[in-house]
Amino acid sequence: MSQISPRKLFITTALPYANGVFHIGHIMEYIQADIWVRHQRMQLGEDDRLYFVGADDVHGAPIMLKAEAEGLTPQELVVKIAATRPKCLNGFHISFDHWHSTDSPENVALSRDIYQRLKKGGLISNKTIEQFFDPVKNMFLPDRYIKGECPRCHAPDQYGDACEHCGAVYNATELISPYSTLSSAAPILKQSEHYFFRLSDPRCLEFLRDWIKGGRLQSEVENKIREWLGKDGEESKIVDWDISRDAPYFGIEIPDAPGKYFYVWLDAPIGYLASLKARLMQEGLTLEDFLSDPGIEQYHFIGKDIVYFHTLFWPAMLKFSGAPYHVPDNVFVHGFITFSGEKMSKSRGTGISPELYLDLGLNPEWLRYYLAAKLNDRVEDLDFNPDDFVARVNSDLIGKYVNIASRAAPFLKKHFDNKLGQDFAGLPVVREIREEAQTIIGLINKRQFSQAVRGIMEFADQVNAYWDQQAPWVLAKRFDVLSEAERTLLHNTCSVALEAFRLLSLYLKPILPRLVTDAERFLNIAPMCWRDAQAPLAAGHVINEYQHLMKRIDPKQIDQLLEAQQATMEQAGGEAKEKTEKQNSSRGGEKKTAEAKTAGVTTISADDFAKIDLRVGRIIHAEAVEGADKLLKIMVDLGEEKPRTVFAGIKSAYRPEQLIGRLTPVVANLAPRKMKFGVSEGMVLAASGSELGIYLLQPDSGAQPGMKIK
Ligand code: 2FM
Ligand code: ZN
Repeated sequence: MSQISPRKLFITTALPYANGVFHIGHIMEYIQADIWVRHQRMQLGEDDRLYFVGADDVHGAPIMLKAEAEGLTPQELVVKIAATRPKCLNGFHISFDHWHSTDSPENVALSRDIYQRLKKGGLISNKTIEQFFDPVKNMFLPDRYIKGECPRCHAPDQYGDACEHCGAVYNATELISPYSTLSSAAPILKQSEHYFFRLSDPRCLEFLRDWIKGGRLQSEVENKIREWLGKDGEESKIVDWDISRDAPYFGIEIPDAPGKYFYVWLDAPIGYLASLKARLMQEGLTLEDFLSDPGIEQYHFIGKDIVYFHTLFWPAMLKFSGAPYHVPDNVFVHGFITFSGEKMSKSRGTGISPELYLDLGLNPEWLRYYLAAKLNDRVEDLDFNPDDFVARVNSDLIGKYVNIASRAAPFLKKHFDNKLGQDFAGLPVVREIREEAQTIIGLINKRQFSQAVRGIMEFADQVNAYWDQQAPWVLAKRFDVLSEAERTLLHNTCSVALEAFRLLSLYLKPILPRLVTDAERFLNIAPMCWRDAQAPLAAGHVINEYQHLMKRIDPKQIDQLLEAQQATMEQAGGEAKEKTEKQNSSRGGEKKTAEAKTAGVTTISADDFAKIDLRVGRIIHAEAVEGADKLLKIMVDLGEEKPRTVFAGIKSAYRPEQLIGRLTPVVANLAPRKMKFGVSEGMVLAASGSELGIYLLQPDSGAQPGMKIK
């Protein structure tokens, strides 16, 4: 990282699509970036500037279609989603300097400017291509909106790019009997002129080969780009990038090309600049001046799924747009967040919702600490494990760090009027912790948060060991008869502990901004920055009364979160199912009746219902599944040769032994689903709603396994 003084830092996180609320992956990225940003702010000089900005990524077909489905204009949907953002951003203490939108005048102007500069530089070409077109919706169809029979295994209803059944990858045009998922109509092939950014131009390839030199990128990222660019002497795999979409499209119209819009990924990263520009304007500054400053450093935090856009298109677009645009100094890539080793998934009810987390009153800094304790500078997935979460927060953060203050403060208050001793700042424990300041700062700077946290907790262990070894409570017991030397010893022990606590608070400050603000208030000191590592509490300094700094996590709170999560996800799953049924029902050309619409329910035909093979089953065995918090493995007799195995997310409501012998309706013709723990061969039916709880359905006694339910 080259650093010219004064520094001008411009830091971003990936812009979330404006078609839904934040998920935990967004919050993890924001926390990672926020820790790094706060660390940078703690070392800025007076003339340095830092801008940490975000925005909603609002364009594209999915948002346009979602708005339509909700009876809103895309702009209305965007406004609705934007209103949900502050709750989580503020709730998790994410310190963005500005939050903007890609549907802003700044972004329109910047996107057109960049496009026109690229065009002038000979890097935009056009070509007529052939694509699937929905004749009912009158629009070209992205692959995800086309389904049909797999050309390899003939499984029905497979997406336009790959078969979920056999894993084959193909072009949408290869599907047998393709249909549009939007209108159910058979798509037709239609030609259209598209615009391309000529990424395969030798100028771009040469620039990118040079840009990745010098080890700025993470090695995994650099290797991936080398693969795309082709090793020395090899041909590159880079192809030109289709940057236009035809109307109807929610996006920015391309200059001099009526009916053509920029593909959402063209204007999305430009949204970083639009957000910065809007923020600078609030101070009467211009983007041009800021970007032209020799001290500028531009960094983007992103997930591993969008590396291609950020390390190929984006730097090349900026480079060939010319000054004042600035090529990123680095792109920091993180992995995904998994939940107890599994991919977080709405349909499986795994994962945690950041909104629910806050709604249930869980402390946001528990999550910040836990994520920091696991994050590093590699492109690795990070696992959220509920037991590990409780253990780390309770034993490290509270049992080690907060413990120091809560142990020392009462003695200082009782015997020394909250006033520190005279001669403690040079004593071994604090001296050693102070001498490691640069190591901790260096680790945070390199985004080695987990190593920094480990180091900080080792210091906390040393302080607690020192306290135990000094056993100040023994001296305090006979305080009235202590000699002067003994009083000094007791006084210094408390003072050492509190100075050590101050240093640990300083080291944890980027991670735990709220807690450390409270710690600063308790210590009666001004907000700390990195140079305060070398500024110990003064002799005779008076601290404030100790108020408890942080509560322990009650494991029940996590259970509650997971249960609430399961309930909302099942509800969401139900809604999604309803939506699919809605799409399917219109496939046969049936019209929705006005009555059904007013009731808020979409009807299905008797034929549709008859497709579901519902049977009576008897549960003959049930057991917990190791490593799955919500699942029970159930064996159900359906009157067939062999019982079926079904994994059901009902563990929170039933103990296995309660289920044995019960009758239950089973969806018998559900395609088998391969899960981590085995194959699920059906589905048992249960009621759940906005009230928490899961209630298994039960036919009247007398029904026999295998009976059809009609
Ligand atoms: O993948 C996504 O969620 C995109 N909305 C990220 C865009 S990042 C930037 F380019 F705006
Ligand atoms: Zn297939």
